[in-house]
Amino acid sequence: MKLLFTLMAACGLMAASIAHAEVDAAAAQAAVKESGCLTCHAVDKKKVGPAFKDVAKKYKGKADGPDHLIKQVTTKPIVDVAGEKTPHKSLKNTDPAAVSNVVQWILSL
Ligand code: HEC
Repeated sequence: MKLLFTLMAACGLMAASIAHAEVDAAAAQAAVKESGCLTCHAVDKKKVGPAFKDVAKKYKGKADGPDHLIKQVTTKPIVDVAGEKTPHKSLKNTDPAAVSNVVQWILSL
């Protein structure tokens, strides 16, 4: 019984680290599309909001980068949209793994 638990725990850890290491770009792109992010953002050009590539440049390699971006896309901070203070949009799917995948995808650009 104990062995079974150990095995199950080991498998869980392995699955978690695989999920952590790999960005599912297709899922991230689908998420930003269904959440309406692309009205204001594009991957490589500035629209109302910064290009995701510029966001990546700004936060890549920073220890608090992922946390900051997770907050940006889940807690509706007030941003300046064309001179108007507006709550920033959140991702539709706020499942932590899905949010993390979007953030890691942006940082990988
Ligand atoms: C109505 C327009 C609008 C929509 C929709 C929008 N954003 Fe933004 N976003 C902005 C603006 C404006 C900024 C710049 C805010 C600032 O620099 O203070 C921004 C900033 C960001 C940043 C960078 C934050 C930083 O600190 O540099 C990220 C990442 C981001 N948005 C992701 C998203 C995602 C993901 C979505 C969809 C859930 C989304 N945005 C939807 C307007 C928008």
